[in-house]
Amino acid sequence: MKKIGYAVLGLGIGMAHAEAAAASEYADLVAACDIDSARLEKFSKIYPDAKLYSDFEQLLGDDDVDIISICLPSHMHADFAVRAMEKGKHVLIEKPLDITPERAALIEEARLRTGMKAGVVHQNRYNLNMYPIKKAVEDGRLGKINLGTFAVKWFREQSYYDRGGWRGTWACDGGGSLMNQAVHTVDLMQWLMGDVESVTSTMAIYNHNIETEDMTASIIKFKSGATATFVSTTCAYPGISTEIMLYGTGGSIEADADMIKTWKLRDSDDEDEEEELMIERYGKGNLKASSFEEGTLYGHRHVVEDMILAVKDGRDPDILPMDAIKSVRIVDAIYRSAKSGKTVFL
Ligand SMILES: NC(=O)c1ccc[n+]([C@@H]2O[C@H](COP(=O)([O-])OP(=O)(O)OC[C@H]3O[C@@H](n4cnc5c(N)ncnc54)[C@H](O)[C@@H]3O)[C@@H](O)[C@H]2O)c1
Repeated sequence: MKKIGYAVLGLGIGMAHAEAAAASEYADLVAACDIDSARLEKFSKIYPDAKLYSDFEQLLGDDDVDIISICLPSHMHADFAVRAMEKGKHVLIEKPLDITPERAALIEEARLRTGMKAGVVHQNRYNLNMYPIKKAVEDGRLGKINLGTFAVKWFREQSYYDRGGWRGTWACDGGGSLMNQAVHTVDLMQWLMGDVESVTSTMAIYNHNIETEDMTASIIKFKSGATATFVSTTCAYPGISTEIMLYGTGGSIEADADMIKTWKLRDSDDEDEEEELMIERYGKGNLKASSFEEGTLYGHRHVVEDMILAVKDGRDPDILPMDAIKSVRIVDAIYRSAKSGKTVFL
């Protein structure tokens, strides 16, 4: 059977997509495209059989390409994803979907119009500890969730922002610690706690020479009536944790990165025994993303494989643009609130 032809556009985090596609039993990594010749050369040393393009239109003209991973700076996602779908290619788009809700909506509109498949990389939903947490929420084991606390206490050196020229700018990154790093946790927050009604936020630039922010703090109100606090920063040397904490009438769950720290549920036959078991199983975690390692593959294998299987089996990928747009809307509301000093309703 002919394998699915996979191509990667943009060879920063795109290298993780390439590695995942090359490892898939159902896909061939057939091409890569980047305007940076050094990055193309580095790619070709690892994947000598793949075709190299520096022109996106030529990549689109390659009939061997079925899926393109869009791994360009964030403000370019909509333009390139829409064009690819219009040319008959399926797309897997890096987070954030794009940098404004309006631009992100263009991707969902193109998906519906062209009938092509579009998936989004929010790989933290596949962190090992997320399966039991999401299931406990869905099964109602936390009762009515009243409170959540979320904190992304990460660290980035100034050199991280200086590389590539687009990071930490409103025009290209669409924000700072929140839009770039913490958008993953914004996605998890709305996935676990539901639709957001309003946000009241503040932000600052503490430690970096950038235009946007390296700290945001918000009070989030949900349509369910619940409240959450949400903090994001890239100033917490050396990169401490990602806290995801849920408190309901039926109990409490606290996670740190992809570890489970607290698991106390009233409906348990033996609360302490269940917690011990959960901590034993999910207590190790992986804190890699809180600092920065170039080219880490963290979680991408799963998302790329899901995209490949979606195309192979004629189903939708797990995370659609219409799901991913929610976190872009929340981030946009937080920035509008921080800039205006007012509560913003979604
Ligand atoms: N899911 C994650 O954990 C994760 C991690 C890192 C980055 N990202 C996202 O991935 C995207 C890319 O980030 P990055 O860190 O890899 O950035 P990067 O700057 O390292 O890489 C972007 C690449 O795109 C190339 N490029 C720019 N314009 C191009 C064009 N017209 N045609 C072809 N290539 C072009 C650049 O030369 C560069 O190599 C961003 O949206 C970022 O938010 C996601």
